[in-house]
Amino acid sequence: MNLPLTKKNILLGVTGGIAAYKSAELVRGLIKKNAVVRVAMTESAARFVTPLTFEVLSQNRVYMDMWEGDPKEIDHVTVAGESDVFIIAPATANTIGKISHGLADNLLTNLFLAFKGPVMICPSMNSNMYLNPAVQENLQILRERNTHLMEPDFGELACGDEGIGRMPDPDNIIQALECLLKKTGELSGKKVMITAGPTREFSDPVRFLSNPSSGKMGYALAEAAVARGAEVTLISGPSQLPKPAGSQVIHTVSADEMNHAVIDHIEGMDIAIMAAAVSDYKPASCQHEKIKKNREKLSMDLELTPDILDGLGKRNNGLFLVGFAAETGDLIENMKDKMLRKNCSLMVGNLVNSSHGGFGSDNNEIVIMGRGNGQVDKLPRMTKRQAAEKIFDRIVEEIKQ
Ligand SMILES: Cc1cc2nc3c(=O)[nH]c(=O)nc-3n(C[C@H](O)[C@H](O)[C@H](O)COP(=O)(O)O)c2cc1C
Repeated sequence: MNLPLTKKNILLGVTGGIAAYKSAELVRGLIKKNAVVRVAMTESAARFVTPLTFEVLSQNRVYMDMWEGDPKEIDHVTVAGESDVFIIAPATANTIGKISHGLADNLLTNLFLAFKGPVMICPSMNSNMYLNPAVQENLQILRERNTHLMEPDFGELACGDEGIGRMPDPDNIIQALECLLKKTGELSGKKVMITAGPTREFSDPVRFLSNPSSGKMGYALAEAAVARGAEVTLISGPSQLPKPAGSQVIHTVSADEMNHAVIDHIEGMDIAIMAAAVSDYKPASCQHEKIKKNREKLSMDLELTPDILDGLGKRNNGLFLVGFAAETGDLIENMKDKMLRKNCSLMVGNLVNSSHGGFGSDNNEIVIMGRGNGQVDKLPRMTKRQAAEKIFDRIVEEIKQ
């Protein structure tokens, strides 16, 4: 059996926390799993455990000094390029602050910026430090950038207090790493198209019909798909969100433009997730000049916009098609009906008139309905990124069947 850690190049970053001694156990555990381990340490970490310990355990040189090494190779670029996964354990509040803000004043933080693969961070510190809003905000920045955070354990801390902040046991970290590596490769070779955000249907040069969609769900899906190794094309309506790293983004404005972009790029896609909130109707005509306020009443003819999901469902060419249903009532019935009518493989639904999250929010409370086995998963409120992971877990499960 091909185990996830066998022959994998693991870059382990060790920073100056009291739990640095546990990283020595972590190296031993990884080596037992036949991984190739290279350790990068900060100078503070070397105050807790000597580089020699890691050198002997990993059977590799330890990377600590940015200014030494082979002049023909720049360590942080070469080592980052040769590693499959980067794990920082323990990660101090200080290093978390630096990497969440793009600071790079030592070899370890340079490696973080130069590394393009999956990153796992194990924050470890006193619970007051961990719960400090500055640290929590820095962790949130990392989470949103696709970094996998392993929650610290609750228990007795080195300072004698009890609370959250302990670095998890090396065995649990190894398990989480195996899980991450399995997931990161799960969609490699697959092409995924995702639509996101609202559309704007202009009635004159300055007014349009739209909805409050922010694009957060679709962008979170793009990040999750990239993290699992997919080649991602994100077709986005107007959104303020930064481009999700690693995906190709095509910007559109109206439903017609989004439809054209979908048709132009659908060839060769394996999975299409239609998460955009597309206007159903558009003004029958768009005035060239701004409509003047010179009447008591103004009515406007609307006409249907193209039904993008329906168009893809009719192609029926082996595409795994995921539809979204944002409903204000009878969610399950509407989802079932939409899934069959639009020939979708999977349907994700959420109520948009409630306190359950939805439009604009960072959280969402979703229901996933599969066509294959008809299973309905009602998920609790969670971040959109977590919801995206659940959706991909289900997609991967259904594709395998
Ligand atoms: C005895 C001792 C234990 C420490 N333990 C931690 C810790 O567990 N977590 C943490 O974030 N900082 C801890 N610190 C503070 C860090 O060592 C300090 O912030 C340092 O600048 C971290 O540098 P680095 O991030 O470059 O490794 C500790 C400091 C001392 C003196």
